[in-house]
Amino acid sequence: MNIQIPRGTQDILPGESEIWQFIETKAQDVCRRYNFREIRTPIFEHTELFTRTVGDTTDIVQKEMYTFKDRGDRNLTLRPEGTASVARAYVQNKLYGSATQPNKLYYYGPMFRYERPQSGRMRQFVQFGVEAMGSADPAIDAEVLALVMDIYKEVGITSTKLVLNSLGDKESREAHRQALIDHFKPSIHEFCSDCQMRLEKNPLRILDCKKDRDNPLMKSAPSILDYLNDESREYFEQVKAHLDRIGLPYVIDPTLVRGLDYYYHTAFEVMAEGEGFGAITTLCGGGRYDGLVEEVGGPSTPGIGFAFSIERLIMALKAENLVQEANPSIDCYLVALGDEAKDASVELLYQLRQAGISADKDYLDRKMKGQFKAADRLNARYTAVLGENELADGSIVIKNMETGEQVSQPLTDFVEYIKREIEGGLKA
Ligand code: HAM
Repeated sequence: MNIQIPRGTQDILPGESEIWQFIETKAQDVCRRYNFREIRTPIFEHTELFTRTVGDTTDIVQKEMYTFKDRGDRNLTLRPEGTASVARAYVQNKLYGSATQPNKLYYYGPMFRYERPQSGRMRQFVQFGVEAMGSADPAIDAEVLALVMDIYKEVGITSTKLVLNSLGDKESREAHRQALIDHFKPSIHEFCSDCQMRLEKNPLRILDCKKDRDNPLMKSAPSILDYLNDESREYFEQVKAHLDRIGLPYVIDPTLVRGLDYYYHTAFEVMAEGEGFGAITTLCGGGRYDGLVEEVGGPSTPGIGFAFSIERLIMALKAENLVQEANPSIDCYLVALGDEAKDASVELLYQLRQAGISADKDYLDRKMKGQFKAADRLNARYTAVLGENELADGSIVIKNMETGEQVSQPLTDFVEYIKREIEGGLKA
């Protein structure tokens, strides 16, 4: 039987995995510069964590969660996102009491959503995210935005747009909510059944509906920015002022509402602007979620963060032609001829690796030509040939594959010689 990979998942093979490693390293470097530290949480959590925080009228909770009962009859869910888990861990481990405040955390790992797979939309995808918890200073909003834009800059993506909105505080959101109900109610029968259900429960979600996107009432819907109270407006002004101060460009989009319920004040997305990009142009989403920590049983704690998937980042890199096939190389390939030399090469190979040299040998009983071909394919910088004659006089022939130059060295000096050559080459 030919078993295939589940829909919406992918294998990342050598050649592609190097791009992932490159992105991981860059993102971690930027986080280190901004003094964010890594947190790792489980891949599954109690289902209630997500229904309570992401929101029970969201698409994620209603349609997309991988939920199952374990053998102990517990209701568990493969995490659809990372923020709720970080908030849970923050409370459970009492990070609100830790000496370093605010807690600036980043995470990296697979998330699961039962969505209709298409380019940029997977059922298993990997998010890189950050959460800064414990500060309501608008300067930290600007810091988080600067951080994500720095990651895009570091990996080389240039065609991005930072889109910003404010969802206001509780009072502003309540006023806006009522305005939305008044706006949509007379014509709600034109909308899908989900939106009809959302009207009273959570009308903001209507603005996020994929089915009713083109209904003219969407465009004319009341803008949250007209309902911000003085405090919320002032907060938003300060965030923008900080962005202006550091020269980070952004555009305001009052229709940006995000697909999760926990946001207040700042909400943002990074969009791809490159040509040849698919239908899904959102690379990253995030915002402020004052109230989330309380929702999972902790003390009132402000927080802000974002997450982006590596899959969409790679799409953006490809759209800008920035992905090159990885061409890895090794330092040394051992060519061994004859049974005795083959046995000796096992030991030499081990010694090379102990000395920190990347090395390999033949395991398929190839002839000399085949072994040289294998060395070529691996882009070996040096090839060392050990035949019966060399073994007899305790030497080995080393070929610099770039220059073609060959030297014979005593076997006892071999590892040191390769090490010196490689270190010299690195300095040159
Ligand atoms: P989100 O907008 O649901 O927010 O997802 C954030 C990012 O994850 C998206 O912009 C996209 O890059 C990626 N993503 C989401 N779904 C998929 C998918 N099916 N396939 C591929 N990539 C996907 C959150 O998850 C929030 N937790 C972000 C956040 C952190 N807010 C505050 N802190």
